[in-house]
Amino acid sequence: MAKENTTTGLNITREQMIQLLNEDLAREYQAIIAYTVYSQVIKGAEYTDIARELEQHAGEELAHAIKIAKQIDYLGGMPGVMPKPVKTSSDPVEMLRADLENERETVSHYRERIRQAEAMGEFALSESLRSIIVQEQEHEIDLCDALGINVPPPKKPADRKNG
Ligand SMILES: [Fe+2]
Ligand SMILES: [Fe+2]
Repeated sequence: MAKENTTTGLNITREQMIQLLNEDLAREYQAIIAYTVYSQVIKGAEYTDIARELEQHAGEELAHAIKIAKQIDYLGGMPGVMPKPVKTSSDPVEMLRADLENERETVSHYRERIRQAEAMGEFALSESLRSIIVQEQEHEIDLCDALGINVPPPKKPADRKNG
């Protein structure tokens, strides 16, 4: 898979948008898998509430994946089928931290994607992405609550793992 290129900035072509949305889709697939597995394997009385929330997140991530696939199809692209790699662990805190890290990465990318969609005049795409980012930020809050930490400031593109 081509490496995500974010140095293209705001003014991107339709083809670049399709490619970037496919990266977003791969992150949504990753989130579906991580939340599906973590919600079931996380153990301990103190994690009962968050386990239930993680299960709900899994369903929301699936809805995001469908929205992104719909937009890729609308733009004339083919939605990809590969998730980003999912970290496995049996330690609850490590699982929650991995989820939080992924959510922060995802939010950072969507912040950029919304600006790119606006610059293209793709307002329906922008609207769809905005509805997704609202939920991703709620996921961040849920995870931070469970970890007993404050929500960290948004990741800048330079701090991201990939692109
Ligand atoms: Fe998502
Ligand atoms: Fe999320």
